[in-house]
Amino acid sequence: MNAVPKLSLNDGNVIPKLGFGVWQIEPKDTVEAVSEALRVGYRHIDTAEGYGNEKEVGEAIRTYGLDRGDVFVTSKLSRSSRGPRHAHERFDRTLSDLGFDYVDLFLLHWPWWPLPRLPRLYAEPFVVTWRTLEEFHRDGRARSIGVSNFQIEHLKRLAAEADTVPAVNQIEAHPYFTNDAVREYSREHGIAIEAWSPIAHGKVLGDPTITQIADRVGKTPAQVVLRWHIQRGDIVLTKSVTPSRMKENFELFNFELEPADMYAITARDRGENGRTGPNPDTPKWKVRGSQLFWTVARLLNQNR
Ligand SMILES: NC(=O)c1ccc[n+]([C@@H]2O[C@H](COP(=O)([O-])OP(=O)(O)OC[C@H]3O[C@@H](n4cnc5c(N)ncnc54)[C@H](OP(=O)(O)O)[C@@H]3O)[C@@H](O)[C@H]2O)c1
Repeated sequence: MNAVPKLSLNDGNVIPKLGFGVWQIEPKDTVEAVSEALRVGYRHIDTAEGYGNEKEVGEAIRTYGLDRGDVFVTSKLSRSSRGPRHAHERFDRTLSDLGFDYVDLFLLHWPWWPLPRLPRLYAEPFVVTWRTLEEFHRDGRARSIGVSNFQIEHLKRLAAEADTVPAVNQIEAHPYFTNDAVREYSREHGIAIEAWSPIAHGKVLGDPTITQIADRVGKTPAQVVLRWHIQRGDIVLTKSVTPSRMKENFELFNFELEPADMYAITARDRGENGRTGPNPDTPKWKVRGSQLFWTVARLLNQNR
């Protein structure tokens, strides 16, 4: 098993540069997927309140039998759990669902509430919720705290109004959407980048530039793209429920890409057109009717 190198964060903690994400893994499949990932060698698991599988992630890690300190666990606070009261309730539930007394990293999942244009009336600014994350950090229940999907202006606002610089910014990044302006700003301010959807859900794997490099270096297109992320200095979050792909995605530390190949892959960037997920500034969320109903009901209740 290749050891995964670690990166030092701005708060002195260290994080494995390769993580296993569990977005879109059904709760019923999560224990098996996470257990298999641990067998392959992953020691960094990325979940979220919104993924609905924190319980199963905790169960898999606890039953696998490693010491808690041997696995780096991240979770995230959903957009709808805003404000100190909700953040406290939700964080308590995250810890009890995971069955741990701390998480290694806790993130604000998105800067804005799901329907940004209408309900700012109700939504508290993310800075207020960030201050609650600072409390979790101070009391030791979140060893590190960070943000996700933050654009430059969101990071500037945190810098102006809060005490703690986020340890990481978890953002979409892959060859079709290199997201370099946010990466560079974050890096310049000591914030490590975690890349989500690193292979753009497989969309980049048939790209001729990438397949040609893969053929030449004797690796798969997925390995080439994931290695490109690592050599850019980012932390990579891969996801697969397929054991052979988990293994393939883990084998990144026994080869190196030449600068010319790094440059050629970066040049595949399509800017905003390359995004697979929403733009954090103008999210076009598909909100289900029932989800909207319960969210509005809860907010009305909260404001009584
Ligand atoms: N912070 C955020 O807002 C945010 C948003 C999205 C994701 N994330 C995090 O980032 C993690 C990764 O994101 P993602 O799931 O979008 O990543 P991704 O790796 O770009 O896409 C995963 C998809 O690619 C397939 N796949 C994985 N490895 C492959 C390989 N070697 N060859 C061919 N296909 C392969 C998987 O299929 P199978 O599973 O069927 O094998 C799955 O359908 C998530 O799990 C989550 O933890 C965070």
